[in-house]
Amino acid sequence: MTLRIPRLAQALLAIAVVYGGLKLVFDVALGQPIPASLLTMYMFFVVAGVFMVFTFTEESTRELVAPIRALVEDPRRRRLRNLVFVVLPLAAAGATYARLQPRFEAPVELRSIHPAPPASVKIYGKRFDLLKLENPYRKFEKEDPKRFRELVAEGAKVYVENCHFCHGDKLDGRGPFAEGLNPTPMNFQDVGTIAQLQESFLFWRIATGGPGLPAEAAPWISSMPVWQQFLSEDEIWKVILFLYDYTGHRPRAWEEKHAAD
Ligand code: HEC
Repeated sequence: MTLRIPRLAQALLAIAVVYGGLKLVFDVALGQPIPASLLTMYMFFVVAGVFMVFTFTEESTRELVAPIRALVEDPRRRRLRNLVFVVLPLAAAGATYARLQPRFEAPVELRSIHPAPPASVKIYGKRFDLLKLENPYRKFEKEDPKRFRELVAEGAKVYVENCHFCHGDKLDGRGPFAEGLNPTPMNFQDVGTIAQLQESFLFWRIATGGPGLPAEAAPWISSMPVWQQFLSEDEIWKVILFLYDYTGHRPRAWEEKHAAD
């Protein structure tokens, strides 16, 4: 008596052999793992092909599905059937659950748009304490409104000469260069940008630009230039006055911050 392997087992074996063969050729012979998407594609055609061959005639089809029919229909296989229909869904549920386990590490692409500034930073070769730093010109808003208007106008000049290419002539982040940049230049009209920030934060960001961003803002290749190389300290404080004046936003004040904390 010769032992005949059931057709279903033959079909599954054929698929397993091709799968193993592909893995072997790529991983061992070529020394490179086969891309999962490619493997899925190959296996789709292999499975389809195998089932085409195994269902070529009525009879071979019947032989192929015989064990499955027997499992479902044969009253003597009730035990096995119940077991299979409990174990299979449980296994699927377990596998799905394992895959859905929450992961707590930050996703790699997550970038912090407003990273926490360093407590103190070296700009123009001097140490600045960002927690205390204030715009030296802000006081003129109340004390000498005429002088304040002049300072804002000087800031506007700095802006037009240096910043509008990226941040736009309406400060909406849509300057002529903006289309080509990723990340895009900040839109200062948006309530999510300078309206949320202290002037010292802006001073830090403008003076040190993209390269001044701390590690948690990476991977983030910002084109924002390092303005301490091109502008004076005064010019940066004046352009900050202009940013708030033009957009009508108020800088976030220290008092408010402490009250909120
Ligand atoms: C070459 C294009 C470019 C130019 C020119 C440019 N910026 Fe930017 N700026 C950016 C980009 C891109 C961002 C967003 C990425 C980032 O925060 O670094 C940005 C961000 C900023 C931010 C941070 C705002 C926030 O909400 O965190 C400030 C402030 C700023 N720019 C001010 C200026 C000022 C002032 C000038 C002119 C002196 C200027 N920028 C010129 C490209 C530019």
